[in-house]
Amino acid sequence: MPPRAPAAPTERELTDLEFGILSALVASHTGIALGSDKRALLQARLGRRLRALGLSTFMEYYRILKDQGADGPELVRFVNAVTTNKTEFFREAHHFDHLREHVAPALEAAAAEGAERVVRVWSAGCSSGEEPYSIAITLADALPSAEGWDVRILASDIDTDVLERARVGTYTLEEVAAVPRTALHRYFLRGVGDNDGLARVRPELRRRVAFRRINLLDDAWPIRTAFDVVFCRNVLIYFDRPTQTRVLERLLRFVKDDGLLVLGHAEGVHALVSGLRHAGNTMYRKESDPCRPPS
Ligand SMILES: C[S@@+](CC[C@H](N)C(=O)[O-])C[C@H]1O[C@@H](n2cnc3c(N)ncnc32)[C@H](O)[C@@H]1O
Repeated sequence: MPPRAPAAPTERELTDLEFGILSALVASHTGIALGSDKRALLQARLGRRLRALGLSTFMEYYRILKDQGADGPELVRFVNAVTTNKTEFFREAHHFDHLREHVAPALEAAAAEGAERVVRVWSAGCSSGEEPYSIAITLADALPSAEGWDVRILASDIDTDVLERARVGTYTLEEVAAVPRTALHRYFLRGVGDNDGLARVRPELRRRVAFRRINLLDDAWPIRTAFDVVFCRNVLIYFDRPTQTRVLERLLRFVKDDGLLVLGHAEGVHALVSGLRHAGNTMYRKESDPCRPPS
């Protein structure tokens, strides 16, 4: 009988030790807590980096990360590889209904009393842009610039790959399927020729959204604005409890008094922080608070 051919090399397994040190590195840089049930996920995502770099063990990869340090290019790729970026246009539609039916009329009423027609919104953990563009579309319809409204949105994420996609603002027709037809017409350009099957957010709307890399785990955020509304949806669920509390307390400092905090469907704040009153499904109003954003 001829000798058996050697088995094809299989994907390198993440050992217990490697999982321990790499998941600790993920937690210390992003706040993302990876339980042991996420081992296969981490192996698959970092396995791609190993192949790209021609490495054969996760320990070699860890050494590269350590040698390059916190500002190294591989750490950025490492972080990009471990984030989960699932998002969609008008996800959790009730939040956009609330913007249109409650937030915008309240701002109009305040403007009628002499308040400035200025609105500032932050989408923290914006992924590839579907969330901030859904906010921009909703507010452009409800508070038109033709009526003097100045609406700007800060959209931030830790992941540079999704931020790049978001800045370009090009999506497949399948991805924009949840955008109402009239808004699609008004706020998107339909691709032709090589771009057939794509839709790009119109420059007028893109200009209202500023995309920046901000790590919510960092001690200082480079923000000097107080926001009328802060969206931080489906981000905190990846953090452990103490990190959720710390990030929430800091987020709240950037919400104006009586401003709105919007969280994701699996996220609630009542047990975590005080100074909020319930304003609808996973939406909270900030009660008057002496905390102010740093000036
Ligand atoms: C599941 S997506 C949610 C996107 C959007 N908010 C939504 O609900 O559709 C979570 C996003 O949070 C980002 N993220 C995770 N950790 C972060 C951190 N420490 N700082 C900033 N963004 C982070 C991820 O990169 C990812 O794009």
